[in-house]
Amino acid sequence: MTATPGPKGSFLLGNLREFSQDMLGFFTRLARDFGDVVRFRLVNRTAFLVNHPVHIETVLVRQHERFIKHRFFWSRVRALLGQGLVASEGAYWRQQRLLMQPSFNRERLARYGGIMVAEAEAALAEWRDGEVRDLHAEFTRLTLRIALRAFFGSAPSERTLGLARAFTAAAEEIILRMHMPVRLPDWIPTAGTRRYLDAVRQLEGAVYAIIAERRRRSHLPGSKTGPPNLLDALLAARDEAGRPLSERQVRDEAITMLLAGHETTALALVWTWYLLARDPGAADALIAEARRVLCGRSASAGDLDALLHTRTAVQEGLRLYPPAYAIGREACAEVLLDGHRIPKGATVFMSPWVMHRNPRYFEQPEAFRPERWLGNVPAGLPRYAYFPFGGGARVCIGNTFALTELVLVMATIARWGRIQLTSDREIAPRALITLRPAEAITARFHRDADGPGKTPN
Ligand code: HEM
Repeated sequence: MTATPGPKGSFLLGNLREFSQDMLGFFTRLARDFGDVVRFRLVNRTAFLVNHPVHIETVLVRQHERFIKHRFFWSRVRALLGQGLVASEGAYWRQQRLLMQPSFNRERLARYGGIMVAEAEAALAEWRDGEVRDLHAEFTRLTLRIALRAFFGSAPSERTLGLARAFTAAAEEIILRMHMPVRLPDWIPTAGTRRYLDAVRQLEGAVYAIIAERRRRSHLPGSKTGPPNLLDALLAARDEAGRPLSERQVRDEAITMLLAGHETTALALVWTWYLLARDPGAADALIAEARRVLCGRSASAGDLDALLHTRTAVQEGLRLYPPAYAIGREACAEVLLDGHRIPKGATVFMSPWVMHRNPRYFEQPEAFRPERWLGNVPAGLPRYAYFPFGGGARVCIGNTFALTELVLVMATIARWGRIQLTSDREIAPRALITLRPAEAITARFHRDADGPGKTPN
């Protein structure tokens, strides 16, 4: 057995303060100062940061049955996500995953590609030449509209903005809760809890309305509900006794998909355009590629293979700014990692942020170099040195959806023009639930004079 190294913490809180105030810096220092397996403490919880690809594979893949999602986090978001796919466990999780998996197959993705491009073009058509906008707000609205149409067949309406606001309000409260040493139950009426529950109720109301509309329309004789989608799969599901999912179960999965399906992708778009806008050479390559491959027509899922520069920019964007910057598990049995004992009940963190910037695996790790992905995977890169979508049984169900969306939206923007930042100041990331920019990233959109959205003379 090896004594696991780690930082000293305060008597009462352990390392909670550094963990809450600057998780990226804290994790980076732990990996640099203590190596592949590091032990620390969050109040009364023993926690580990695991920084070696083989150990990450052990936790996510080889011994995944010895871990569950970590309760420290999930207990704080129960009211929002309930038993949705991100938070559920065991036989119920497996049944729900199998139920939803077909909604992400190749044929569905080809159809979603059409929605992604149509929504991106509609958003660009509204963005006046040279007008300044906040990239995060723009891309959040876009990815939310795409998720609403793809998963629920719901025409995005004024509802979209309200939903985006409610998600943001709920997320802000969740972050505050994560940083509290003890969890207050939701029935204690603090101002924060009230704000959180109000946001949850607003989201719930919107999602129940979408479900009711879909049910009503599918019962109307001769009604056109469009091709089957994820919501239809949830509504049609029956257990062995022939019982459908309850309203609450459908609501949990729908809110989970809507949240998981738009927030991370919006951030990947923000960060990748931020990196591209600061590297005109790479942006030029993208624009030239969009012209060459698309020859003046709209992109589609069939173009993914040919959009090589766009794909490598996306892979590199996800490397430098992985929206899911840390993945947590709780050990439900003791596990040994190369002689380090992980006791039952301990929390284990793995951080794409830390691994993706480790010079052991990436040359010039801080530099934006999409060309490192030209041969698909850099030579000799271990499987779990790069894992923006996690891995193993709980790998992101939407990973191909997200990659398709990212490449098609990026290529559509490149076909229409160029995004230019209003400032060349470096923007720091903030590790909230996902990796957000610490301040607004504002930009102008300059239309290509010969592009589809050219300004009329
Ligand atoms: C760039 C975009 C995305 C990133 C970086 C991302 C990242 C991740 C990661 C790291 C996990 C694993 C978490 C863990 O193991 O604890 C995950 C799980 C998940 N993601 Fe994504 N995701 C993205 C897009 C999406 C999209 C578009 C959807 C919906 C269609 C989605 C739905 C989910 C769901 C439902 C899970 C839970 C899966 C399960 O536990 O079975 N994600 N995602």
